[in-house]
Parts: sequence; structure tokens; C-alpha cells
Amino acid sequence: MEFSENAIVEKKKFASKLYEFWIRNSLVSKKAKPGQFVILRITERGERIPLTIVDTRPGEFRLVVKAVGKSTFELCMKEEGYVLSDVVGPLGKPSDVRNYGNVLVLGGGVGIAAVLPIAKALKKEGNKLTVILGARTVDELILRDEFSFCDELLLATDDGSLGIKGTVVDAMRKLLKEKKFDVAWAIGPGVMMKFASYVAKEHNLPIWVSLNSIMIDGTGMCGGCRITLKNGNVNKIEYTCVDGPEFDGRFVDWDVFINRLTLYREQERLALEKFLAEVGDVSWL
Ligand SMILES: Cc1cc2nc3c(=O)[nH]c(=O)nc-3n(C[C@H](O)[C@H](O)[C@H](O)COP(=O)(O)OP(=O)(O)OC[C@H]3O[C@@H](n4cnc5c(N)ncnc54)[C@H](O)[C@@H]3O)c2cc1C
Ligand code: FES
Repeated sequence: MEFSENAIVEKKKFASKLYEFWIRNSLVSKKAKPGQFVILRITERGERIPLTIVDTRPGEFRLVVKAVGKSTFELCMKEEGYVLSDVVGPLGKPSDVRNYGNVLVLGGGVGIAAVLPIAKALKKEGNKLTVILGARTVDELILRDEFSFCDELLLATDDGSLGIKGTVVDAMRKLLKEKKFDVAWAIGPGVMMKFASYVAKEHNLPIWVSLNSIMIDGTGMCGGCRITLKNGNVNKIEYTCVDGPEFDGRFVDWDVFINRLTLYREQERLALEKFLAEVGDVSWL
């Protein structure tokens, strides 16, 4: 079958409301580097949503999407052959991948997909990699087979259904008592990245986090994705879309970041409610 640009060429369900997509796009597939993302619209009247480029192959790129609101529900309901309205990217600065020595990588929930390309690139640079992947339950511990190239792989689930019972941050805390690392990466829910950054700070460990701010234009013009970095008494405003999405978590003002994520909660709730009323039963998703 011949697919047009921006078509979904492959779709796979990982878990309830959690899907993998391969999208046809010659430019993104050629240019993307680990750590970068796209902003896409599903329909012409849809909102623009940022999603991490998880992998590429000739002419196509890979996404992993969790349905959390109107647009991500709508995307996860689309099937192979559907053509997205538009895709912009690759956006953002690539991860600072080089040979650091001993690297600790944490992935939580859908963030596991986002750390995969970074972990692969770090390994290629000759780093010794310890990876901790965590999710609420074993079904959501996605892509764990694809991390077999790591030197050490630890798994954690909140309910204890696989690996350590607890969060990736619990596992990180324990590990840092025994082992020394030169740098860390942590990608996952805001709260996970916040606490991983606090632990890293206690150990004087630089830690890259990928901030999933609410974005609109993705070009540094609207200010929607702004964050505050704190260094002593100095506060600095940066924009996740053009200055990030990765920042040293030890300097992120986490309260400001997490508060901004909840700014439109009521509108988001209403948009999802209206969408679900239109499309009917989505218990299969
Ligand atoms: C650089 C970047 C990369 C991202 N990569 C991925 C990815 O690979 N896969 C993926 O599934 N998601 C990713 N996200 C998050 C994704 O963009 C949001 O989940 C999506 O925009 C939500 O849109 P919605 O209309 O479905 O939900 P909304 O109605 O906008 O939000 C529904 C709920 O999700 C929360 N939410 C909204 N936006 C975000 C956000 N950016 N991060 C976390 N929670 C949010 C809201 O507070 C609300 O509770 C990324 C975000 C950024 C900024
Ligand atoms: S999304 Fe508008 S400034 Fe970053």
C-alpha cells in the first residue's frame, strides 16, 4: 500500500490507552536526533500537540502516545492509512549525547519511550548505562525488551507486578547509595522528574529532564511553554520548545512548572467530555 506524507503507516496497542504509531514523513525521519519532538495536528481544526520522536527508519518516524485528553484520545482512535493534518519538526534541541562515563537513565510511564533513543545514543558513545524503567503496573512497563543493550536494567512497578515494588525514584535513591554516576537522564511524569531531580541534587549529580510543558506554536513566540530556572537568587525564564525540552532538573522551579501544567484543567476536562459524548463508547481503546 502506498502511503501519503503524514499518514499513519503502522499502529500497535501496548496497553489500555497507550499506542505506538509509525508516521510517514520524509523530512522528520531524515533529520531527527534523540531528544527532539514534533508538533502535530490530527485535523485542520484540531489543537497542536507535542510528541517525542522515539525512533526513525527510512521515510518514517515512531511515536508512542498515551491518551490523556481530547487530542490524544482522538489520535489513539485513528487507524492505519489516516493522514494527519500537519506535522512540524524535528523541534527542540537534541540531547547532549557524549561520552560521560557512567550514566543513569530513568524512564517512567510513557517517558520510557522518550528515553529509549537517548539511551541508545549514549550507549553508542561508549557510556556504561544503568537504566531504571518504572510504571504503575507490568502492562504499562512498555518497550522493556528494547533496552537489552544496557549494561544494567532495573524494573519497578507501583503495584509490585514486576521488578521492585515502588517508583523509579525509590530505586534510584537505593542505587545511588551503592554506585556513583557522572550524569543522569530522567523522563516521565512531572512529579517523577521533580523528585528524581531532588535526589540528584543531594548527590551533586547533573540530571537532564525533558519538560512536557503545554505548547502552542513551538517556536518561542507565544510564551506558553515558559519555565523558570533557579540558580541561587537568580531566576531565568526559558522556553521549553526552543531552549529545551531538556534542562538540568536541579535548577528547574518545579512548583512553577507543575502549576502551569494544570492551568487549563477545567477547559481540558470539558473538551474531553464533549468529545467522548460525540464518539460514544471508548472502553476498547
Ligand atoms: C516536548 C514534549 C514531548 C512530549 N512527548 C510525548 C510523547 O511522546 N507521548 C505522549 O503521550 N505525550 C507526550 N507529551 C505530552 C502530550 O503533548 C500531551 O499529553 C498532550 O498535548 C495532551 O493533549 P490532550 O488534548 O490529549 O490533553 P489535554 O486535554 O490537553 O490534557 C489532559 C490532561 O493531561 C495533562 N496534560 C496536558 N498537557 C500535558 C503535557 N504536555 N504533559 C503532561 N500532561 C499534560 C493535563 O494537565 C490534563 O490533566 C509531550 C509533551 C511535550 C511538551
Ligand atoms: S510553545 Fe510557544 S513559546 Fe514555546
